[in-house]
This record gives sequence, structure tokens and C-alpha cells, in this order.
Amino acid sequence: METITIRLEGLTKIFQAKNKEETVAVSNLDITIPAGKLVGLLGPSGCGKSTTLYMISGLLKPNEGRIHFGDSDVTSIPPEDRGIGLVFQNYALYPHMTVRQNIMFPLENLKVPKQQALAQAQKYADLVGIGELMNRKPVQLSGGQQQRVAIARALVKEPRVLLLDEPLSNLDARLRLQTREEIKRIQRETGITTIFVTHDQEEAMSISDEIVLMRDGVMQQKGAPQDVYDKPDNLFVAKFLGSPPINIFEGEIKDNKVLFGDSTFGTKKLPDQPVTIGIRPEGFKLVDKADFKVQVEYVETIGRDTTLIINNPLVPGETFRAIVDADHRIIPGDTIYLEPKEHKMFLFDKESGVVL
Ligand SMILES: Nc1ncnc2c1ncn2[C@@H]1O[C@H](COP(=O)(O)OP(=O)(O)O)[C@@H](O)[C@H]1O
Ligand SMILES: [Mg+2]
Repeated sequence: METITIRLEGLTKIFQAKNKEETVAVSNLDITIPAGKLVGLLGPSGCGKSTTLYMISGLLKPNEGRIHFGDSDVTSIPPEDRGIGLVFQNYALYPHMTVRQNIMFPLENLKVPKQQALAQAQKYADLVGIGELMNRKPVQLSGGQQQRVAIARALVKEPRVLLLDEPLSNLDARLRLQTREEIKRIQRETGITTIFVTHDQEEAMSISDEIVLMRDGVMQQKGAPQDVYDKPDNLFVAKFLGSPPINIFEGEIKDNKVLFGDSTFGTKKLPDQPVTIGIRPEGFKLVDKADFKVQVEYVETIGRDTTLIINNPLVPGETFRAIVDADHRIIPGDTIYLEPKEHKMFLFDKESGVVL
């Protein structure tokens, strides 16, 4: 299979409703999807993920901008001529057809000879692990199996690009995990350039070579999942990635010290100003003595990790989380001392949310 790079250039989509209200669903998007990679397009519901995917597929026409597949500009090429495979959340299989007929369907339109179409359908059914189920009807399959049929059907024409729009959302938790690993394997084996849309940060982080995080139609950050997690460009990115989420404290910079109330969280060469401090749950060290003295509200132990739910000393009724090794014996009510780890603490401009 030929692998291609996808390049989006200033891509913009504006929906105009009857009452004349405009929605800028996607705004001036510049992204390169590297050849042969799986890129996770991530963000909250309504941020423009599907709209972006449909513009890449050709189902939606951008108001502005260009779409390039490799060296060719495909912006005005109809969907059927773009060499794409599409998979949706709701499988969209034909209920009266068998698995085999469903997978072969795209080839019938292309007038591929019967024997060749059968072989091709079997090849992709085997690849997605449903080669034994060719005579079944969709209703006789689990959700995960149905989604694999949909993936085989998308691949059978050997497209240059695979586009998946929340493909796992209809599956239960266990199947979702299994199927996402399966998608990763299929993508690796075929080497097909793939865009995987999801609102689930954990899903995107686990499956993607790179993630693109969007908000309100605007790209926030792009990069390897761990890099974006470790170096968020703004508060939105920091809050969207990570489970349990990052802890937020309203603090200040004074004389190059990062202060939260009377506690020093570290140093930073910056003018005196109020700042938003973000510290990952795994970003605290338990120490014998520090000026951040807090009281433990309760303790959750899961496997080797202990999560401490701790009262925020400056905001009554509010708690934050610190994940520490399970060998620390801590019980509710204990008073402990914490120190932020420097590389797990981020400072954000209080107005713009941009990282400082
Ligand atoms: N056909 C449409 N007409 C009008 N507005 C739309 C249409 N499709 C999507 N939108 C709006 O565009 C924005 C982005 O939608 P969408 O791309 O579906 O988001 P996501 O897939 O990230 O949940 C939303 O505000 C949505 O309401
Ligand atoms: Mg969507």
C-alpha cells in the first residue's frame, strides 16, 4: 500500500444556520499528518473533530483552505476518488447482507472480478480477525466484531487513508480496550496513514503516534502523547489530558518564588504576578518537612499506587489528589508535608491560560 502524508492548510468550515447564526466549526487549521502514522484527533464534544474528518474525506467542503494528499491537492476531488476508507461510530453495516457481502460491497461498485473480490474480502477479514465469521449476518455479531467488519470494509479497497470517527464509542469498556489495541495492530500492519477521532483522552493517548488537541475549532497543541502531557502549551491542554486530572491552585509569583498562600512551591524567574499553578497528581513528593503542610481527607489504594485525597488548605471544602507509592502508610486525618516535583508543575498566565 502506498503511504501518504496529509497536509491541511488554513482549513476553515463555517456552518450557516437558517436563522443566520454562524458556527465556526473549524478555524484555520494547519496540520500535517505524517505518512504511515496514526494521529488521534482529540477534543471535547463539538470542538470540530468530525467536521475536520469530513472535510478530509470530501463529504464536507471547506469554506477556506486546502487539503493535500501527498503531492496532490484533493480539495475539489469528490470523496469516492480520494482513496479513503471511513469508519463511523455506528458501524453502518447492511443488516440483510452477510459479513462477506458487507466487506465486498465497495468492490462491487468498482466492478472488481468476483474471484479477486472474494480473495480481497477474505484477506481483510483475516487481518481484522473475523475471517471465520464470513457467513454471519451483522445481528449475529458482537459490537466489537461488527466494528471489525466495518474496518475490513473500509480497508478492502486498499485506501491511502483510513479515517475513523469515534469508532469505539458504542462498545462496552472491555471491548473498547480490546478493539483499540486491534486497531493499532491493523494500522501498524498495513502502514496506512490513519486519523482516529475521539473525545476520550486516554484512548487517544494510548493509541496515537501523535495527538492533535482541538478546542472550539482551533488546534491547541500537536505532538507525541507523552510530550503534550509533559509540556502542555496552555491550561486547557493541561486539564484535558491526564486521569485523575491535574490539580489547579491559584497562586502568585513574588520575588521569583512560586507561592501558594504562605507555601513556596518552587522558584521561577518571572515578574511578580498572580498565576494559575497546575500540578499533576503524580507531581508531589512526600517529605519529612516542607512549608506545604496539609491534611489527608481519605486514602484510595489501587494496586501499587496510593491516591491521597487532601484538603486544600486555602480553599475550604476543596480537595486535591496526590499519587504516592503504596508503601507509605498514611491514614485519613494524617498531617503530611508535600513538595511539588519541578517537572510536574506548570505555571499559566492567569488571564490567557498560556504556559509561562
Ligand atoms: N451540519 C451542521 N450544521 C450546523 N452546525 C454544525 C453542523 N455540523 C456540525 N455543526 C457544529 O459545528 C461544531 C463542530 O461540530 P463537530 O465537528 O461535529 O464536533 P465534534 O465532532 O468535535 O463533536 C459544533 O458546534 C456543531 O454544533
Ligand atoms: Mg463528532
